[in-house]
Amino acid sequence: MRILVIDDEPNIRRSLRDILEDEGYEVDEAGDGETGLRLLERQPADIVLLDVKLPKADGVTILGGVKTRLPHTEVIMISGHSDIETAVDALRKGAYDFLEKPLSLPKVRLAVAHAAEKISLRKRAREQAAARFQPLIGTSAAMSAVRAMISRVAPTTSSVLIRGESGTGKELAAQQIHVQSNFSEGPFVQTNCAAIPHDLIESELFGHEKGAFTGAAARRLGKFEQANNGTLFLDEIGDMDIAVQAKVLRALQNGEFQRVGGTETLFAKVRVVAATNKNLEKEVEEGRFREDLFFRLNVVPIFMPPLREHPEDIPELARHFLAGFCMENGREQIRITDEALERLKTFSFRGNVRELKNLVERLAIFSTGNEITLATVLAQAHPVLTGQNTHFLRSRPLAEAKNELEKTYIETQLNLYGWDIVRTAEALDILPNNLHRKITQLGIQRPHRKHGTKDEEEAGDSE
Ligand SMILES: Nc1ncnc2c1ncn2[C@@H]1O[C@H](COP(=O)(O)OP(=O)(O)OP(=O)(O)O)[C@@H](O)[C@H]1O
Ligand SMILES: [Mg+2]
Repeated sequence: MRILVIDDEPNIRRSLRDILEDEGYEVDEAGDGETGLRLLERQPADIVLLDVKLPKADGVTILGGVKTRLPHTEVIMISGHSDIETAVDALRKGAYDFLEKPLSLPKVRLAVAHAAEKISLRKRAREQAAARFQPLIGTSAAMSAVRAMISRVAPTTSSVLIRGESGTGKELAAQQIHVQSNFSEGPFVQTNCAAIPHDLIESELFGHEKGAFTGAAARRLGKFEQANNGTLFLDEIGDMDIAVQAKVLRALQNGEFQRVGGTETLFAKVRVVAATNKNLEKEVEEGRFREDLFFRLNVVPIFMPPLREHPEDIPELARHFLAGFCMENGREQIRITDEALERLKTFSFRGNVRELKNLVERLAIFSTGNEITLATVLAQAHPVLTGQNTHFLRSRPLAEAKNELEKTYIETQLNLYGWDIVRTAEALDILPNNLHRKITQLGIQRPHRKHGTKDEEEAGDSE
């Protein structure tokens, strides 16, 4: 663990360095705040010991500088007898502790040990949280920018709005924000605002009391309560009923809400991350989305780039999905040739990373000799038109062939949109009801889901 001592008195720096090095810490020194901040940029420290009285910018100002650069770094203020008030002010501004001059060495050791313990605990919690989620793959400039944004915003308490087309990884980004936040020890709770009928969304978010409405047989905790001290991911926020939006805004502003049918005002400390693929500005303009809620959520927007804007990530993504597929299915590692990868890079994935993932799984299934070659790619990329599916078209009545083609096509589209009926119907330009009817008529079966979808895992029923 690394400690930076910022103090203008060389003697104090020297004695602090001596005792801390004895304890096994690596120690850097700076004689004033600006030098300290510059040093931190090159060599981040886990703990900063910061004198309140410094030449030029004072300690409390420098504290702000440390916290914006390194939100997870713990700062211990060192103050003379006369500036205890300043030290208390510093605590309010995010300092971890303060030490009084003249310094007592045992107190220094203890304060540093406590800060170090807090840092280790948080590191471990973050690692555990990270292990529950899939990583965001991609080293292109576009994805690096996303990752930098995430690291920047995650440790704050601001609401985050993640925007981007379908399948670009908005959900993964939300999970990463949770993992890197100070809420990572708490739960990650998610809810899909588009999937819940309008008359139930309020109860879903805020819970209800027994008997609040027909069917409310018992008290139920809402997502806000479940997410207390953790992150609440409001997916497809653009589809949230406008009447509910006012209540969400209130919950965001002061953490207050009421269960449906309840009179008690409840509080929850929740970090909210929202996502949408809708153009919210337009929704606001057309009166379907509250402007105040939009501003509240959009404090820090993160844009997930469409895959066509970072095709250089396709090989890495494809290998990642391939490895995952082989592991989940207990298969030997399947290779993919460079030629095949190059061809994948030329495709326009309208369903973005999700479509690439689905294609890679299909390629894995149809690979021969544990290798995906250019030929495999060409045969599978356009399933409706390639030889794979034409066998059943031979010498058949047109009507039957048409059905088969329609079935394959709709199946492909459903997989592309992750079996989101509304979205798939939109892409096919038919009504969701018609799509439902076709699924039944054509006997299309939803592929078995991999065990434990996120909703089942996270929601943790609370009745
Ligand atoms: N950068 C990435 N690295 C690894 N996997 C990714 C990446 N981006 C997306 N995926 C995968 O692609 C699929 C779709 O991602 P995700 O569900 O996060 O998209 P989304 O933007 O929320 O889409 P939608 O708007 O349809 O909900 C998931 O299986 C996810 O694991
Ligand atoms: Mg999503």
